[in-house]
Amino acid sequence: MSYYKIENLEQYFKHYNKSIREPRKFWGKIAEENFTWYQQWEKVVDFNMAEAEVKWFTDAKVNITKNCIDRHLSKRGEKTAIIFEPNDPSEDALHITYNELYETVSKMANVLREQGVRKGDRVCIYLPMIPELAVSVLACARIGAIHSVVFAGFSASAVSARINDCESKMVITSDGGYRGNKTIDLKGIVDEALETCPSVERVLVAKRTKTDVKMKEGRDIWLEPLLEAALDNSVAEIMDAEDPLFILYTSGSTGKPKGMVHTTAGYMVYTAYTFKNVFSHEENDIFWCTADIGWITGHSYILYGPLLNGGTTVIFEGVPSYPDFSRFWEIIEKHKITQFYTAPTAIRSLAKESLDYIQKYPLKSLKVIGSVGEPINEEAWHWFNDHVGDKRCPVVDTWWQTETGGIMISPIAFVTPTKPTYATLPLPGIQPVLMDEKRNEIEGNQVVGSLCIKFPWPGIARTIWNNHERYKETYFSSFPGKYFTGDGALRDEVGYYRITGRVDDVVIVSGHNLGTAPIEDAINEHPAVAESAIVGVPHDIKGNALYGYVILKETGEVRNKENLSKEINQYIADHIGPIAKLDKIQFVSGLPKTRSGKIMRRILRKIAEGDFSNFGDTSTLLNPEVVEQIMKERIS
Ligand code: WTA
Repeated sequence: MSYYKIENLEQYFKHYNKSIREPRKFWGKIAEENFTWYQQWEKVVDFNMAEAEVKWFTDAKVNITKNCIDRHLSKRGEKTAIIFEPNDPSEDALHITYNELYETVSKMANVLREQGVRKGDRVCIYLPMIPELAVSVLACARIGAIHSVVFAGFSASAVSARINDCESKMVITSDGGYRGNKTIDLKGIVDEALETCPSVERVLVAKRTKTDVKMKEGRDIWLEPLLEAALDNSVAEIMDAEDPLFILYTSGSTGKPKGMVHTTAGYMVYTAYTFKNVFSHEENDIFWCTADIGWITGHSYILYGPLLNGGTTVIFEGVPSYPDFSRFWEIIEKHKITQFYTAPTAIRSLAKESLDYIQKYPLKSLKVIGSVGEPINEEAWHWFNDHVGDKRCPVVDTWWQTETGGIMISPIAFVTPTKPTYATLPLPGIQPVLMDEKRNEIEGNQVVGSLCIKFPWPGIARTIWNNHERYKETYFSSFPGKYFTGDGALRDEVGYYRITGRVDDVVIVSGHNLGTAPIEDAINEHPAVAESAIVGVPHDIKGNALYGYVILKETGEVRNKENLSKEINQYIADHIGPIAKLDKIQFVSGLPKTRSGKIMRRILRKIAEGDFSNFGDTSTLLNPEVVEQIMKERIS
């Protein structure tokens, strides 16, 4: 019996039980039957949760690009691997076959080697959603360099912090990027970032916008001529199962971004398996995930998951609103998309526009539609189901995280009966538990708690780059022996899970995880600011918006508040990126604090929401008069 594909609900339960009772046999068989290895593993899994140590397929040798590309060539060489849909619909889409992908990735791999990149070196990729991005990622994996893709919406100082944290040797970027009607000066941002990045020796620059850019002698090189001159075949580096494949930064509760490290074999097996099942992927499908490759969703389900399955995947450069709000629907129709995977924030923003935009398109090619990134509210779920899926496509509400590598709790299309706003059941291999405040596991159904996972799965991140202590502390200390997700969840009467949202200091704005601490750090850099606190408040489209409380240094008359607010937002844009700007800023004289000096964010959140009714336990509140004052002056 093969465990790779689940055909029906009965089989799901069978596979699930097997994966729990005999995880080694279950994953061992999947790994053996569906991938090519240079050398088999000693142990399927080896772990110590208390020490946050997890290894899968120990001592096995593999290269993920052999599995993404080479092994498909004999059967699927002329099949389209990647469809590139440009920002501007009048520009032609590009179809890249597996043969062509092999050639370009090989060329790029050869370029990287010629430019001095070696196995284990870190390469920062700061590119728009163009084919070079996919090719750079895969070329790094081919030669065993560790890719660190930084979302091209991050500011120079955010880029610099990420480059320095992992000491990237090289940056791959482009002259500029298109996003809707904007052109973004990526090379300029990189130049600024690199003023403070001593580790970077080389910058490869792809051409996209053909804008004038400065090329620094001895450091910057145009990519195109190098590619033209490079050989179009390449030997893949033999990687150990646990060699790092990539680093991807995510927000945390301190200002320093966390470089989540994913390793090779476990990530490969897990993304391939989850992609195949959740989306019920078949040979002739055209899969489109609207995320950016700068986020984990793009890594796992634009690139690795689809390519590992020999699928066709779409890379879309643009935005849902350009040239108008029918762009997504037009693309689905144009490329006959079969699976469409997007985020609740995109769904909500399109749902508020006229139905005319979508009704022009029959969307008959669609089979499965999916959601990821934040809880999907009931209204958005129904709009998605009614208007995009035409009530005939299963909606897969997929819960997972940068740290989990792949989808964890989700319906399996055509297998799991869906329920609006519920991520439903854990995938095979995943053992979720809900924990109460006393750190006890909550048994039974119809319960609410902190979501933990009590057994390792192949896709789990192995560490935080250069900071295993922080990894252990963040994920394995709140509930000893278990992986803590930072999310709250409820389990309904049949055991379905619904994710209720973050229970830590991370706010999800338009699908982007934003730690409140780094934003506060940015605000506090402003010379007029003494202290600040950020909270998330519900927002119709963005899911959450950011509301900031700011204490100024000067007492007495405050300067022009409007200008100051603008300046503060500019500080945030410069330090992190425009995505982290605050919707509202309230200047206050103090912040509610506990006797031990901790800000009581719970109260600030309530006030920002305009709910003054129930602040919960305030017995440790040091300064109730401040709360009164803040309530009086709240910005509506
Ligand atoms: C949230 C994105 C509810 C959650 C793959 C998680 C979700 C965080 C869902 C991770 C979902 C993701 N329902 N919440 N279907 N999917 N989340 O690291 O809070 O960017 O912890 O990974 O997004 O975000 P990240």
